[in-house]
Amino acid sequence: MEVRLQKFLAEAGIASRRKAEELILAGRIKVNGVTVTELGTKVDDVKDEVFYDGKPVKKSEKLVYIMLNKPEGFVTTVKDQFNRPTVMDLIKGVKERVVPVGRLDYDTSGLLILTNDGELTFKLTHPSKKVEKTYIAKLFGRPDDNNIAAFRRGIEIDGWKTQPARLEIVEDLGKYCVCKITITEGKNRQVRKMCEAIKHPVATLKRVGTGEIELGDLKKGSYRYLTDKEVAYLKKL
Ligand code: URA
Repeated sequence: MEVRLQKFLAEAGIASRRKAEELILAGRIKVNGVTVTELGTKVDDVKDEVFYDGKPVKKSEKLVYIMLNKPEGFVTTVKDQFNRPTVMDLIKGVKERVVPVGRLDYDTSGLLILTNDGELTFKLTHPSKKVEKTYIAKLFGRPDDNNIAAFRRGIEIDGWKTQPARLEIVEDLGKYCVCKITITEGKNRQVRKMCEAIKHPVATLKRVGTGEIELGDLKKGSYRYLTDKEVAYLKKL
């Protein structure tokens, strides 16, 4: 997109628009190797190379925050070594370079946040942040009170003990049981391993919440931008 040079410089965080005009007039800005002193000059914010005192000016991307309802059969990496479909294939309309915040297994569906806000990604995925993640799991059989108490105490898997977790029965389907499971960590295949440990393995798994952010009725394979309120909530976690 073509924008006025002073606007481009301001959006890149070089200076206010007023100050940027002064820099242009002072001959300190070059576009594609040529010094520009015309205030009306327009630049293409993707193609043109802008330099300030000889140093390249990187346009800061707009920060975007997306919620995807990941379907099963997609990996949560930007590229897959086995060439399987990735969640990036589902957000083709987003031009910013977003990355998934944390991960969901290939065979897990549901809420996945993607953003280009590195600070937020770091914060949300740091082990010290005990953000609750809520899952709806279809389990084989029906967990009993002992299983529920074991979740509450924390479950031993792979030689370590999980933080206390919650398991609630939502619906008994006979062979299966629909359960709501809440954990505060995000270790590899954690929910699946916890359910295996109580001998009620997972048949299907879907994440429906991260803290107060809820998947709601977002269709599988669709995405939406988080609301300002949701972004503010994540930032203050
Ligand atoms: N726990 C799992 O076992 N799998 C996921 O994808 C997320 C949490």
